[in-house]
Amino acid sequence: MMSKQESAVKTKKLGEEYKSDFPILNQKINGKDLVYFDNAATTQKPEVVLDAVDNYNRTINSNPHRGAHTLSVRATDAYENARAKVRDFINAEKSEEIIFTRNTTESLNLLANSLETQMEAGDEILISVLEHHSNILPWQQLAERKKLKLKYLYPDDNYRISLAKLKEKLTDKTKIFSISQMSNVSGVINPVKEMAELAHQKGALVVVDGAQGAPHLKTDVRELGADFYAFSGHKMLGPMGIGVLYGKRELLEELPPFLKGGGMIEYVKEQGSTYAPLPEKFEAGTPNVEGAVGLQAAIEYLEEIGFNKIRQHELKLTEYALEKMKELDYVEIAGPLDLEDRGGIISFNLKDIHSHDLATILDSEGIEIRSGHHCAQPLMKFYGLNSTGRISFYLYNTKVEVDRFLESLEKVREVFGYGS
Ligand SMILES: Cc1ncc(COP(=O)(O)O)c(C=O)c1O
Repeated sequence: MMSKQESAVKTKKLGEEYKSDFPILNQKINGKDLVYFDNAATTQKPEVVLDAVDNYNRTINSNPHRGAHTLSVRATDAYENARAKVRDFINAEKSEEIIFTRNTTESLNLLANSLETQMEAGDEILISVLEHHSNILPWQQLAERKKLKLKYLYPDDNYRISLAKLKEKLTDKTKIFSISQMSNVSGVINPVKEMAELAHQKGALVVVDGAQGAPHLKTDVRELGADFYAFSGHKMLGPMGIGVLYGKRELLEELPPFLKGGGMIEYVKEQGSTYAPLPEKFEAGTPNVEGAVGLQAAIEYLEEIGFNKIRQHELKLTEYALEKMKELDYVEIAGPLDLEDRGGIISFNLKDIHSHDLATILDSEGIEIRSGHHCAQPLMKFYGLNSTGRISFYLYNTKVEVDRFLESLEKVREVFGYGS
């Protein structure tokens, strides 16, 4: 039998009915009801996440893994329970395959540093030109340090990368293939599973930047074929400062640690040390236990609603916004116009208006959107863009908010004297 609470969640509609779970959304910005459309950058936290972090700090806070006292043991349990939840969430085989980091950026930097020992001059790293800087710079630097070749995949006019292009670029020298699950600019979802199969046929390691994937798509790292998978808590209703690097155990075991210090050693001698087993080997220093506790609460909240329901809601909003925006001849959309393999992110420009002006005027209407290069300058250059505005949806956004956004676009035009 379904509990009362479960059946309430089943019938509750995403959007308006979930807003009350998020205290921050109930406020006015510049005198108008807040519309938060910057979810690809950072999402908001529901009460259950705020409470979990608060409760941890009020009743448990202590340094885990180090003490013999009760609070330290409880902090250790809280931290390890969170790790087990993350394991279950992405269907990793073992908890020690889950390394807690600060965010996706740190996860990818850790990896690029630790993989250095496996690379030889002349080896190749393959990424795409659509990547976030966090999935470019660590590889760029690794390539420079070890004299490797950094190669790029380029998309078609529809912002998609074809498997045929990937096949052309993969060679026997490709040692690392790193790709985003979903683009933070165009919203395109890459065919990661098929891509991973092709890369594995050439013997390459497959790294997946799941910063925009984990929050919106039900993700199974084993089904995806990811050797490594990185994501951030703050983009999926969790706290800032907590992120994850998943890696297959046999691969992580071979890699040397990135950061060194307390908590990651077996023995330390005056000269030379040995390291703790996974996952501690990669978690030097005091960890962010409250962050991990908050991430666990966020995952439980998302799972209770269900990723299918969330995805359908985001697709409906995206379809509606795209349809309406396509009708406006002054709107240029930087991304696919159809819904195929696409998430709830829309980048766009208003003709002859800079995206920062657009974002500032929308802010005066209480509507928070992103503007700029979205940490994806190579993508911008490839498409000849200097910046774009970006709206991105999550489970608490509504059609009414999209309508307010659309109406406000006219106001932006009026400010510049282009009004109808
Ligand atoms: C696709 C992608 N990768 C990586 C990142 C970096 O995430 P973080 O700043 O949490 O490290 C982002 C952030 O926007 C992103 O969208």
